Amino acid sequence: MGFPEVRLRRLRRTEGLRRMVRETRIGVDDLIYPLFVISGSRIKQPIQAMPGIFRFSLDELSPEIEEVSNLGIPAVLLFGIPEMKDELGSGAYDMHGIAQEAARKIKKVNPELVVIADVCLCEYTNHGHCGVVVGGEVDNDKTLELLASTALSLAKAGVDVVAPSDMMDGRVAAIRKCLDQNGYMMIPIMSYAVKYASAFYSPFREAVDSAPQFGDRRSYQMDPANVREALREVEQDIWEGADIIMVKPALPYLDVISKVRDHFNHPLAAYSVSGEYSMVKAAAARGWIDEREIILEILTAIKRAGADMLITYHAKEVAKWLSNL
Ligand code: PBG
Repeated sequence: MGFPEVRLRRLRRTEGLRRMVRETRIGVDDLIYPLFVISGSRIKQPIQAMPGIFRFSLDELSPEIEEVSNLGIPAVLLFGIPEMKDELGSGAYDMHGIAQEAARKIKKVNPELVVIADVCLCEYTNHGHCGVVVGGEVDNDKTLELLASTALSLAKAGVDVVAPSDMMDGRVAAIRKCLDQNGYMMIPIMSYAVKYASAFYSPFREAVDSAPQFGDRRSYQMDPANVREALREVEQDIWEGADIIMVKPALPYLDVISKVRDHFNHPLAAYSVSGEYSMVKAAAARGWIDEREIILEILTAIKRAGADMLITYHAKEVAKWLSNL
């Protein structure tokens, strides 16, 4: 049967009908809000290229945590900006490092809020790379130990989930082993399994001051041209013990999200990164796009592609719209 008996427009005629047949919905439960915490005090510093996003010192953090909690957002993704950076990124695995202290603070304000901690060295190294540099190159195996210590120190500080974003081979296994040996067998790993060497990260690097001081990240992050390789990355991370898989960036990589969803049954997160946010904000500020409609459409598309969790800097505004605040 076809036209004129079949008319696909019949089910689009009213909002009631459209609601009935809608296939994808975003809800507040899907949202994860990234949070930047900086050492020092009385700091609530706007990030130039990310209007509405700030770096908070610990003493300024409570109102933000309360707002996120009151909006019903279930989780935050924590990034620390330390006072001092060094060759080995020692601030990352300092028991009293900025991210560790932030985790303790957040748990004091709201123990129910899920704290996911980014595990990486790039915010903590003076060269800005995600691992130990030996002879001008990022040394994979030497980095693993430091990542495992970072994850352990964060688990000890009370985070609920650790999220390695460094793209070293074998880091999920190294972290799992270290957590288990120390009694943290119930802390899940959300792996940035598929992380591309993307130009969409540049506003974030301003936010955490982590731009590489030489070279780039192409020897560890993935080539944007590859998708079969993405499936191999996921396969490895699952085999090493990842509990949640992430694809990053999100909007330019919907095909990757969709393929990962088709091939694997693990919960899947998509990280709509800083550059995606900045582009929307810049166009909206000029009145060139309808900000709310664009954001909801983008997030719906990411979920439709197969993501279960949406990591987005828009989380607070979206939570407000979803609850008609
Ligand atoms: C690395 C890390 C990066 C982002 C999250 N974790 C930056 C990078 O790899 O250079 C980017 C997030 C964003 O752009 O929003 N620790």
